[in-house]
Amino acid sequence: MPGYAVIGGQWGDEGKGKIIDFLAGRVDAVVRYGGGSNAGHTVVNDKGTFQLHMVPSGICWPGVAGIIGNGVVVDADVLLGELSELDTRGIDTSNLFVSERAHLIMPYHVLLDELEEKARGDSAIGTTGRGVGPAYVDKTGRMGIRVGDLLDIEGSLRPRLEQALAFKNALITKIYEAEALSIRDILDKCAEWAARLAPHIQATEQTVQDLLAQDKAVLLEGAQGTLLDIDHGSYPYVTSSSPSVGGACIGLGIPPQAIAGVVGVFKAYSTRVGGGPMPSEMLDAMGDELRETAHEYGTTTGRPRRVGWFDAVAAKYSRLVNGMTGLVLTRLDILDGFPSVKVCVGYRVNGQVIDRFPSNTSLLAQCQPIYEEHPGWSQPTASATSVSQLPEKAMSYVNRIEELVGCPVQIISTGPSREETIEVSRIIP
Ligand code: GDP
Ligand code: IMO
Ligand code: MG
Repeated sequence: MPGYAVIGGQWGDEGKGKIIDFLAGRVDAVVRYGGGSNAGHTVVNDKGTFQLHMVPSGICWPGVAGIIGNGVVVDADVLLGELSELDTRGIDTSNLFVSERAHLIMPYHVLLDELEEKARGDSAIGTTGRGVGPAYVDKTGRMGIRVGDLLDIEGSLRPRLEQALAFKNALITKIYEAEALSIRDILDKCAEWAARLAPHIQATEQTVQDLLAQDKAVLLEGAQGTLLDIDHGSYPYVTSSSPSVGGACIGLGIPPQAIAGVVGVFKAYSTRVGGGPMPSEMLDAMGDELRETAHEYGTTTGRPRRVGWFDAVAAKYSRLVNGMTGLVLTRLDILDGFPSVKVCVGYRVNGQVIDRFPSNTSLLAQCQPIYEEHPGWSQPTASATSVSQLPEKAMSYVNRIEELVGCPVQIISTGPSREETIEVSRIIP
């Protein structure tokens, strides 16, 4: 039962989309298990550049199914928009399926995301504003509307929507003093979604279970990153789902034994969008330079990303939470030409040195990084496709990361496109 999970090891945007597109030619399906349109996965190949928010990142491979699992919250407008764009660009989307158990992001979720963030004031999380948090709140609160409800609007969706909207409108008008949403408008939208999405709605849990039972390889596509995990991230500055590997079993309806490998994707440095502690953040001119040369701006919101050195303490924590069997290091090329590169190997806090990632967010915010400094490399790694093309110092940096995190690097990525990839060892046999 060969499922291979590709998981963000940091705060998201590690390059999961690129790596999934690279690996997807060897599998039968790519299945997203969590998050929603807050994700922005970039895929660059001979068919062009694609920014995918809802559609799984293997879509450019003909014959590879794309599945949106039950753990995902679906923004149907975003999904349908992506499907039509892919169609116009000549990418076949007939092999794209959505779980009938996945929850829908409704217009009131998007509105509440905005209103709640405003109300948080200085302690705003810095969400992507896509309604993802409020949609997961309703899922857990048993007030959600599911994709399958679209197939039974009168019997199932309308009564559930009436109940949910009465509650949401009370919140919107009485607590936030904003304008109520109209049920008519939402029902019209649902009817449009139903008509267009119906051919793609499926019991995807069975589809995935069947593929695994037939020994077909499946890539489990993570969104966000482990340090944004609702349980294991820097709470409350997290997303509302479980990007770590446990989320894959729940978000797809598969058992843990189905997962043959867990690949953690890491940038060769760190980035984070939104609020919350980031011990190795570079707040100096070098950080600004890195952001600009690397064009570190969010794929979903266009916001500048905070940048920092590679944090091996956080990375090791992430490895342990997920039981990573291999690492992928992306954007090594971005560090080309730096006179030296640093790695955070411990934190200094309250007069002590620690090498564990603390759960207390205010403690994490006080952590001062302890750095190891490594010589930089002047010859480029950009576009390298084999280890022999890498400068020795770049390779020592990679080896040191491997050692500190405690897991072998299986892929080194040296540019955004599919070919700019070094496969050190095969993840999928
Ligand atoms: P994801 O959310 O994890 O899929 O990552 P994003 O797509 O949000 O952000 C990663 C960015 O880095 C995208 O612009 C990718 O095209 C780009 N990228 C991925 N790998 C590499 C790499 O090795 N080098 C460079 N220069 N860019 C990369
Ligand atoms: P991908 O899949 C980077 C961050 C937001 C915010 C926090 C909560 O592209 O790696 P949310 O909208 O989820 O309630 O926001 O999580 N965030 C991401 N950061 N990459 C992502 O996805 C993210 N998805 C959410 O910036 O700090
Ligand atoms: Mg992204």
